[in-house]
Amino acid sequence: MKNKRFERRDFLKGAAAAGAGLALPGRVLSQTAAKIKLGLMLPYTGTYAPLGVAIENGFRLALAESGGRLGGREVEFYKVDDESEPAKATDNVNRLVTRDKVDVVIGTVHSGVAAAMIRVTKESGTLHIIPNAGVGAATGALCAPNIVRTSFSNWQPGYAMGAVLAQRKSVRNVVTLTWRYAAGEESMKGFKDGYSKGGGTIAKELWIPFPNVEFQALLTEIASVKPDAVYSFFAGGGAAKFLRDYAQAGLKDKIPLVGPGFLTDGVLEAAGPSAQGIETCLHYADNLNTRRDNDFRAAYAKAYRMQPDVYAVQGYDSGLLLAAALKSVNGSIDDRKAVVAAMEKVTVDSPRGRWRLSKAHNPVQDIYLRKVVGTENKYVGVAVKALDDDPASIAACKMS
Ligand code: PHB
Repeated sequence: MKNKRFERRDFLKGAAAAGAGLALPGRVLSQTAAKIKLGLMLPYTGTYAPLGVAIENGFRLALAESGGRLGGREVEFYKVDDESEPAKATDNVNRLVTRDKVDVVIGTVHSGVAAAMIRVTKESGTLHIIPNAGVGAATGALCAPNIVRTSFSNWQPGYAMGAVLAQRKSVRNVVTLTWRYAAGEESMKGFKDGYSKGGGTIAKELWIPFPNVEFQALLTEIASVKPDAVYSFFAGGGAAKFLRDYAQAGLKDKIPLVGPGFLTDGVLEAAGPSAQGIETCLHYADNLNTRRDNDFRAAYAKAYRMQPDVYAVQGYDSGLLLAAALKSVNGSIDDRKAVVAAMEKVTVDSPRGRWRLSKAHNPVQDIYLRKVVGTENKYVGVAVKALDDDPASIAACKMS
């Protein structure tokens, strides 16, 4: 089946021919250029649904700020709910790439789903922006010129949290408890890398399948091991439930709970008092109090009547990066090489602070230490400045 883009091109060719050699004025060209097709593949149901919504909101805000156009061209959205379900991921991404023939795929949240998407977009060469999933391979063994990540690698916040705890002489042994899938495993590796550098040891590794939230037996085990701290990766609805269960088990005031910032971002309302005082590391905090962040937060709150979180920032930055690159290539999204080269040159003026893509297309960024106070993940300080990815991932990326 012919897609719209080609029909438009045929029309353009015809129009040029009809003009008998007269060049069409640029203004007319940009008005008649086909719409850019944006494929959003995000979770709109399940434990990560609020994350998908925040990413889309952030992206749409950036788009609105560039006048609703990218590189002067109108856009149209194609959406798929990936349900954070790896088994459905290949079919879902093919809906966008093969059926809808989108110009760019934006997705997703879950590392396992993202890994399946990458296999498809790497093969098809479709531009692919990852606005959350931290799976190391995306910017490691599976890296590709057409794939960029605007969020983080799972290793990054984990490493920073480990480095922070390593400096605390009172915290010598830690139990880790995370969902067992790529994000939990890689977050935990980052934590271990940062923490063991300072001589700390992991007393025990506990796991629970994604997206299970039956924590009781594991909390009983933590109480019996009595570590100096617990490190956990959970996010979305599952994180809120975990925070409540941890407090209800009587552990909150006895054994400090830490984690990557996903543990407390976007879940403070649902977690209530059980989140108070929890320290985490992340590339965003709620009160950075920079002009850039304050402007973003005001605009987001006005547009959506709620406060943004890290996922909203990542969606917003995906829009900023794409808008900046397409502006510099005048909307020629078919020239993929030029678009990617432009992305590689962009310094994203993000609410989180300025960042750029590494050679492997992962953000190099400051990671902050934060603490939950009231309804905010309050900035405490910079845990690690300008952190790149896991050296093992960097070495595994062979861009070709
Ligand atoms: C992931 O699967 O990579 C993931 C999901 C949710 C988060 C962070 C990472 O909050």
